[in-house]
Amino acid sequence: MTLEKILQSQGFGSRKQCRQLIWDGRVSVAGRLISDANQDLPCEGLILSVDGKEWTFRRQLYIGLHKPPDYECSRKPSHHPGILTLLPQEYVNRNIQPVGRLDHGTTGLLLLSDDGGFIHAQSSPKRHISKTYEATLFEAVTPQLLAQLREGVKLIDEDKPIAAQVRKLDTHLLELSIDQGKYHQVKRMLAAAGNHCVSLRRSAIGKLTLDSLGLPMGQWCHLEPGQMALLV
Ligand code: URA
Repeated sequence: MTLEKILQSQGFGSRKQCRQLIWDGRVSVAGRLISDANQDLPCEGLILSVDGKEWTFRRQLYIGLHKPPDYECSRKPSHHPGILTLLPQEYVNRNIQPVGRLDHGTTGLLLLSDDGGFIHAQSSPKRHISKTYEATLFEAVTPQLLAQLREGVKLIDEDKPIAAQVRKLDTHLLELSIDQGKYHQVKRMLAAAGNHCVSLRRSAIGKLTLDSLGLPMGQWCHLEPGQMALLV
């Protein structure tokens, strides 16, 4: 692919803007400044330097973010900053999107990608990919609450009761896994079971845990193939 097309594919702007970046001497490859916008380069394994900053060529983006509280996942955030402000502008230019949503107050693991097929597959209810949450509760965890959640609770707009896998972690702390992603699902399930969720953290998606990524809050990383394979 030509250098200007490579830059465009990586989110550095329009073809014209990318050409200008090259002509302005801001792009180098392997320590060598490249001034020919039409130079053909192999994409796989390519590491560019733009304004002295290293950029690895990535055909698609697969990112894990440790979402902080008070960030919105919606495209047009209204009350809090949007999660996309935590990512490089080049990724936003590539139309990176969150896979599903977390409420603005919920923290934890959020996936983002610019691969529509991946987003669709991950969000598909048919795939039953579990999402695990740690919920801090207002009332103490009781054996009755655990039993009720395991048996299933009825949400107002659902035909059938929804069950969760649950484990008590502490007096007021519950681990809960569900394989759907309905609106405010965990909070509504806990309310339907007679308790109240004070705070919520997503600790895993499928078998990929947030802890295994070692990300401080607000930080993100590219997911390696081994980590992607855990999203089942
Ligand atoms: N369930 C909720 O209630 N909120 C979230 O953010 C995620 C799951």
